[in-house]
Amino acid sequence: MAGKIKNRWELIKKFIEFFKSKHHREIPSASLIPENDPTVLFTTAGMHPLVPYLQGQGHPLGRRLVNVQKCIRTRDIDEVGNETHHTFFEMLGNWSLGDYWKKEAIEYSFEFLTKVLGFEKEKIAVSCFAGDKDAPRDVESAEVWRRLGVKDERIAFLSKAENWWEPAGESGPCGPDTEMFYWIGSDKELPEKFDVEDKRWVEIGNDVLMQYNKVGEGKYEGLEQKNVDFGGGVERTVAVLLGLDDNYKTPEFWPIIQEIEKLSERKYDESVVGDGAHPPSMKRVLGDNNSSVLSNISSNKRAMRIIADHIKAAVFILGDERGIKPSNLGQGYVLRRLIRRAIRYGRLLGIEDNFTVHVAKSVLPIYPDYQELHRNHKFIFEELDLEEERFKKTLEKGLKKFEQVAKDEIITGREAFLLFQSFGFPIEMTVELANEKNVKIDLEEYNDEFKRHQDLSRTASSGQFKSGLADDSEKTKRLHTATHILVEALKIVLKTEVKQKGSNINPERSRFDFSFYRKLTDSELREVEELVNRVIENGLEVKREEVPLKDAFESGAQGEFGAKYPDLVSVYTVVDHSDKKGYFSKEICTGPHVKNTREIGKFRIVKEQSVSSGVRRIKSVVE
Ligand code: ALA
Repeated sequence: MAGKIKNRWELIKKFIEFFKSKHHREIPSASLIPENDPTVLFTTAGMHPLVPYLQGQGHPLGRRLVNVQKCIRTRDIDEVGNETHHTFFEMLGNWSLGDYWKKEAIEYSFEFLTKVLGFEKEKIAVSCFAGDKDAPRDVESAEVWRRLGVKDERIAFLSKAENWWEPAGESGPCGPDTEMFYWIGSDKELPEKFDVEDKRWVEIGNDVLMQYNKVGEGKYEGLEQKNVDFGGGVERTVAVLLGLDDNYKTPEFWPIIQEIEKLSERKYDESVVGDGAHPPSMKRVLGDNNSSVLSNISSNKRAMRIIADHIKAAVFILGDERGIKPSNLGQGYVLRRLIRRAIRYGRLLGIEDNFTVHVAKSVLPIYPDYQELHRNHKFIFEELDLEEERFKKTLEKGLKKFEQVAKDEIITGREAFLLFQSFGFPIEMTVELANEKNVKIDLEEYNDEFKRHQDLSRTASSGQFKSGLADDSEKTKRLHTATHILVEALKIVLKTEVKQKGSNINPERSRFDFSFYRKLTDSELREVEELVNRVIENGLEVKREEVPLKDAFESGAQGEFGAKYPDLVSVYTVVDHSDKKGYFSKEICTGPHVKNTREIGKFRIVKEQSVSSGVRRIKSVVE
């Protein structure tokens, strides 16, 4: 291997330079928290923040873009621990937005890999889409590879499960892809034929040929604009370039592992912890006589990888400008799971004191270019420490409780819920503990229990439920009522039944997502704005009633599409005697709202944009 590139930064620089020389413009890494997609929690790929442009909206920087994007994938958090699986990773990306197509895309990828990075042509293999009822076999891509010198035996045609990029959410741009692999085994063992199952072929890049739009389960429509979306994992590529078969030994992880070695006084490469060295908590978790489970879950290596991966991801989530904190909801819950799982593995390694901040401190110097991490370092450390304090209080007792309930053949849903509620064990942690002990767990009952509890607390506090409100300041209240009026105004102006898809309101602005198939015109937006302001100026009363859910729907009250409501709900009505219905708006909602629309002030739409296929977003303010 050429060995010219030693770390992430050098790789990223070369990649950006190369694509700039091919007339691409560089765009910054977007936030890890998607701005435009309520269907997913995190940015999972470089293409994710670009969805509107892949769907045809013009990008201000043109049709050729390049960047490195910070990403989080949470689907396999519980699988982290092997050589290559990461929760947080960086992705190299280049895009053609309706500009070049398969030939150039593949030629660029090939040139970058072989000429710039020095990958040997003889050790490259590729896969192409085999074709099915949704799209034809991709013989064109295969032909381009062949012309570049990739032999037939090194080109595999694979099915949708392997060679198709699906949107992270329910809908969005997608299509077949062609993936690139590199042989990391010895030269002597280099096989003629490419076998995707052989793990010595490591995937180093993926050109997605985006020509479809997924509109529902198994439903695809042609995209007007044909796009290319290349993605390449930074950590993996660096490992291959350095001749390592373990990403954790690259400069992107090794300083973190070393810190964990120091904190635990153990060595990464000592694969099984000697029995005498088990901390008491681990003995309790494992039992004393299950050695296969023991080597599997307690190797220093696996525990250190989990801690390094999870704390790095936590640092990036906390460091993102959105100020996400550990909680029991959405991104905050994922963050909590990551931190708590890392803490449990820390205890398994025998680390008794708070340690997550020390680990976090070893992450920052690896990423001098992500300014937000450095700007927000205080917040990151404080939140990690707080969460560790919180969990420390209940972890030991919770493990004891777990041991008790795991004596039976099955852990009931109620017991799992108790572990969640009273001991702060994320359900995934209880599942993992139960798996280690080969004990079953009644997840269905757990889910019922969880829902029942949620409904009870919602009805009791009538607080957070459904309203999407960040607080109940005066400004938020005004925006909240304005948003109710906005929904009706949209229906009137667009002459269609728009459905609420989500809302988020804070004192600065209201963000309202709704179903509609196209961009709104300027004159429609003006009309909506004027109508809302007319209703405000009419000084209509806003009335609150507490009614059974069934009656609420029968009276014509609107609810959020797909939302779950308790049996007794509040209905807020903007009363309008001049309307033959007797009201302008009627919604199931927990409030709070203003008492009279005149309190709202002046309403203004600041932005209308696409969120995902068929979903629009309106941002508005009141002045
Ligand atoms: N979006 C593609 C991927 O993540 C490039 O593999």
